[in-house]
Amino acid sequence: MKLCVIGTGYVGLVGAAIFSDWGNEVIGVDIDSAKIEKIKAGEMPIYEPGLAEIVVRNIGEKRLSFTTDMAEGIAHAEIVFICVGTPQDDTGAADLSAVLAVAKQIGESLTDYKVIVTKSTVPVGTNERVYELIRQNLKSPVEFDVASNPEFLREGSSVEDMRTTDRTVIGSNSPKALGILKNLYTHLGTPIVECDLRSAELIKYASNAFLATKISFINEIAQICERAHADISTVAKGMGLDSRIGPKFLRAGIGYGGSCFPKDVAALYRTSTDQAYDFKLLRGVMEVNERMKYNFLKNVTLHLGKNLSGKSLGVLGLAFKGDTDDIRDSVAIEVVKVLRGMGAKLKVYDPQAMYNSKRVLGEDNISYCLDSYEVMEKSDALFILTDWKEFGTIDLSRTKNLLANPLIFDGRNMLNVEKVQNMGFVYFAVGKRTNGVELLAEKDKVYQKAVLNNDH
Ligand SMILES: NC(=O)c1ccc[n+]([C@@H]2O[C@H](COP(=O)([O-])OP(=O)(O)OC[C@H]3O[C@@H](n4cnc5c(N)ncnc54)[C@H](O)[C@@H]3O)[C@@H](O)[C@H]2O)c1
Repeated sequence: MKLCVIGTGYVGLVGAAIFSDWGNEVIGVDIDSAKIEKIKAGEMPIYEPGLAEIVVRNIGEKRLSFTTDMAEGIAHAEIVFICVGTPQDDTGAADLSAVLAVAKQIGESLTDYKVIVTKSTVPVGTNERVYELIRQNLKSPVEFDVASNPEFLREGSSVEDMRTTDRTVIGSNSPKALGILKNLYTHLGTPIVECDLRSAELIKYASNAFLATKISFINEIAQICERAHADISTVAKGMGLDSRIGPKFLRAGIGYGGSCFPKDVAALYRTSTDQAYDFKLLRGVMEVNERMKYNFLKNVTLHLGKNLSGKSLGVLGLAFKGDTDDIRDSVAIEVVKVLRGMGAKLKVYDPQAMYNSKRVLGEDNISYCLDSYEVMEKSDALFILTDWKEFGTIDLSRTKNLLANPLIFDGRNMLNVEKVQNMGFVYFAVGKRTNGVELLAEKDKVYQKAVLNNDH
């Protein structure tokens, strides 16, 4: 089939690559000419394992090409995918300006029947707006259909996710469009959910909101574990083995971030209020998520004080999660900003997100290191803020030798509590009664006693 993919970011570039790898002829379009030139030269503008090889091979085999000329891409295609960004606007809603701008241009360029498919995550009702915009901008009467085909890939494993998706959702009010899109995906052999436009749009938000709910839920349980001398990893394991619950998204930490969950949860909440409904559970999910980083930082200030000037802190991880260079809404970046705001000097390292982080954080009181161990040198404490696998296997004796203080704040529960404590570290994690938490409890007891005796 002949396809055009508009927007060559994390979704569009991977989508274009995989579609072409399935034997389709694909043109990727983006307004960012620097990005297009980079991709054409075989350089990936994003870090995504396995992507470069597929892109380069399919360009070489002439199934995949890239352009900034949208009309050219549209003219070539039977199916046009819209994969542009839908970030959060100031009101919590999805900013649809890029999607609507593309819809207008599609209308202006349409000369024969095509299926226009929205892959971008868009609120319920958007595809009807896309249909209307295209219709209003047609230069001559042309038949076309719109469909919603939300994307469920995860950054860091998106190549594999697209190849082995759990399900494909195709929403359209046109049986012809549904048939054409089904042809594209049937070979995967995984379930295809055919539905109306609005249900397809909502499936995407409901799925992300549910996963975010799981994360906030386990983070709340983690708070109870910490106080009640239980261990969150054990609790999550015991819960996750129940097939009705499942083990995924039950990892406690300093909260979810990234380019999808925060904005999609906010947008769904906004949709609920637009429908005169207060989605209370979702409000709780957002509140809990926001609180998690401050719970973590509270332990830092209780242990080190609120004024961190003169302190040098080492930070492992800046991306919003492991296996990506994406720092959009990264909790790690927010924590770094707060620590710097409290006066600390920071040494930071992330396997892939250094370039993006430097652009956002600048160099004021932050030095960018070449590896984890450079971060540790003479640092007063070590912070683990992103769940890159390599942080879970750091050499602890080397770590102890390098740090000025054997103190670790692990926001992603990457290390083994017993091992770390047996080596003499003071350790803080999330949802675990570590020696660091015990130390704070002891301090608190002494303080309470002093208050009772009136000698504080
Ligand atoms: N990133 C993910 O993990 C993920 C997963 C599922 C769904 N989504 C959804 O997919 C959509 C895209 O997300 P992303 O992460 O790929 O975004 P992104 O920011 O990485 O990529 C968007 C691309 O669109 C391009 N663009 C913007 N306006 C354009 C225009 N008018 N014409 C042509 N190109 C234009 C940008 O230059 C950019 O390259 C969003 O709606 C997002 O919510 C993202």
